[in-house]
Amino acid sequence: MTFLILSYPERVETFRRIFARDLPEVRFASDLAEVDPAEVRYLMAWTFPEDLATRFGNLELIFSTGAGIDQVVGLDLPPRAQLVRMVEEGLTAMVRDYVVMAVLALHRDLPAYLDQQRQQVWKTRDFVWADQRRVGILGLGELGRATAAALRPFGFPLAGWSRSPRQIDGVTCHHGPEGLRKMLAETDILICLLPLTDETRGILNGGLFAQLPQGAGLVQAGRGDHLDQEALLAALDSGQLSAAVIDVTVPEPLPAGHPLWSHPKVVLTPHIAGHSRPESAAAATVANIRRHLQGQRVTGLVDRSRGY
Ligand code: GLV
Repeated sequence: MTFLILSYPERVETFRRIFARDLPEVRFASDLAEVDPAEVRYLMAWTFPEDLATRFGNLELIFSTGAGIDQVVGLDLPPRAQLVRMVEEGLTAMVRDYVVMAVLALHRDLPAYLDQQRQQVWKTRDFVWADQRRVGILGLGELGRATAAALRPFGFPLAGWSRSPRQIDGVTCHHGPEGLRKMLAETDILICLLPLTDETRGILNGGLFAQLPQGAGLVQAGRGDHLDQEALLAALDSGQLSAAVIDVTVPEPLPAGHPLWSHPKVVLTPHIAGHSRPESAAAATVANIRRHLQGQRVTGLVDRSRGY
């Protein structure tokens, strides 16, 4: 029984050390050439070989090294294989911190002040107190919940939207299409932490921006395909949106000269909001394989009919 990881050397070495210590009964491999494909029961990667189904017929669990699973959900999988998202504290903390940074930047008008700085303009802008800045989170999974908990002490009125009903202390929870309309009408800073599925592709579009109060801000830490980039640029130019912090684009990398690079109301980062941390990711993976070996439900199991 083999665990095969395809990743960069630092992550592989950390996994190798932790697997040798905590899961010695499972053979560890990190090189496609060194394994007998029929022996591979567990495979971890970010991008996967196209011929998964035919090459690794005995796979049981396919792990993504990241929170997202959209890169593999459409592939042909071996008959018994199940997909597992990365749920681990390092990744959650990193995304949470990024979104808190972005919300505070929008709350304190940082994109506008950066633009003033570039133009050497010393000018005070209107200030809004945190308890009057309503923050809405699209996606209340692991990342959305951790972000809500971190934003709470600042005093922002918090709301969240998810596919199915949720209850979270201190967060007004909405679900379904009617819930989305209701939340958008009362959201000054909108955060996208949704998984990418057929239902959420293109969700950040002109119609959605029009439902936000004029001058709202956007934090996009989901997937590039959630966002209609042309609609974002139009909403920024019309003033419907005041600013946006964008971590994911289509395509990635964003080509030189794309208007998002230089838009004065956009802060752009190159898909760095979150990465799993090798130590805690390895520990979480060992715990998950143990659960699986004991016939228990693993954490982060993907429901392929939902797409996440
Ligand atoms: C990064 O985008 C991830 O899915 O972890």
